[in-house]
Amino acid sequence: MRRRLRYGMVGGGEGAFIGAVHRHAMALDHRYTLSAGALSSTPEKAVRSAEALGLLSDRSYGTWEQMLEGELKRPEGERIDLVVIVTPNHVHFPVAKAFAEAGIHVVSDKPLVHTAAQAAELERIVQERGIVFGVTYNYTGYPLVKEMRRLVQDGRIGVVRKVVVGYHQGWLAEKLEDTGAKQAEWRTDPERSGVAGAMGDIGSHAENLVATVTGLELEAVCADLTTFVPGRRLDDDGNLLLRFRGGAKGVMIASQVEIGHENDLVLQVYGETGSLRWHQENPNELWHAPLDEPVRLLRRGNAYLCPEAAACTRIPSGHPEGYLEAFANVYGEIAAAIGRHAEGGDPSGDYPGVAEGARGVRFIETAVVSAASAEKWTPFPSTP
Ligand SMILES: NC(=O)c1ccc[n+]([C@@H]2O[C@H](COP(=O)([O-])OP(=O)(O)OC[C@H]3O[C@@H](n4cnc5c(N)ncnc54)[C@H](O)[C@@H]3O)[C@@H](O)[C@H]2O)c1
Repeated sequence: MRRRLRYGMVGGGEGAFIGAVHRHAMALDHRYTLSAGALSSTPEKAVRSAEALGLLSDRSYGTWEQMLEGELKRPEGERIDLVVIVTPNHVHFPVAKAFAEAGIHVVSDKPLVHTAAQAAELERIVQERGIVFGVTYNYTGYPLVKEMRRLVQDGRIGVVRKVVVGYHQGWLAEKLEDTGAKQAEWRTDPERSGVAGAMGDIGSHAENLVATVTGLELEAVCADLTTFVPGRRLDDDGNLLLRFRGGAKGVMIASQVEIGHENDLVLQVYGETGSLRWHQENPNELWHAPLDEPVRLLRRGNAYLCPEAAACTRIPSGHPEGYLEAFANVYGEIAAAIGRHAEGGDPSGDYPGVAEGARGVRFIETAVVSAASAEKWTPFPSTP
């Protein structure tokens, strides 16, 4: 199916952060058209935001419930193919559930939902309805992350012994939530963010990146979560030890109070015969250190990279690609999956789905339980 897919967006109105990123990324490969929107929690703002994006007035909705009702009234050939959820976390579950139950494909930003029980419910609905469900763990879309995964899978660093992942930010080092900064406000409110702060917001990305690249399955977690900023209600700093099945070990930092760091996500994987290091703020480079050989620098866009990395590169080497392209790569896989679904084929693919989203929610819950427990080491539930 090569026609453009029609999407309706929930959230992402004026002043919002990630909704616009999704729209830019979805526009990159000409696979999607924004056809409808319930773009804000304030109906007037939703309508104003829709107008600014050129949406027709009859598809600019005040609420997501109205959007679902309005779209279902349209003939199948006109209604949206998928909904894109870019609201604060507490809205993900009701919207995803309602659209999935109606048989509409869903893309939700992370973390998927608030609880493992909600996540399991979504998994069941997705299974029953047979729809495509993507979760935008966008860092897995980088070509050199795919290269890193290929090198691990091909045994180029041997059996993985240890993983060190750090997601370092400093923007919540002050009580920004008291200044009216809305991104800070809902992220530090348990009602809207969920059981965790930094661990949910960015620790979930780190978990997904480690699992995607290494294929390692978590066995147990030992978490130390701290709220450094006085009066804040959720963790703003997390330091974790990880144990994986098979014996590999890991260390994770997910912090939003590390002054001087912007969006500093770094993954290092150490195997028996080599190591790999990738840094999100310099995503066109991947360092590979084979045992007893000089360190190699792999750069995006070169012919020596694996087919998966080559397939999601748009411009030649030396012309930097980045965040939007990685996001677009996730969306490219989702568009292909929806196309296969339309033809009765297998909609699974190289994109994070509802199972990965659910695993992320279990990870957040496990970290919170571990941090609060006396024993600290807490088994990771590999299934709900
Ligand atoms: N993948 C990533 O790297 C990444 C980055 C940032 C944010 N996120 C995720 O994206 C989501 C949004 O984050 P953000 O920083 O853009 O938040 P934001 O506060 O900037 O924007 C949220 C938007 O949702 C709207 N909204 C709230 N309730 C709504 C409702 N009931 N119906 C319709 N719209 C509603 C708000 O009006 C606003 O337009 C969060 O789940 C966050 O975790 C992911």
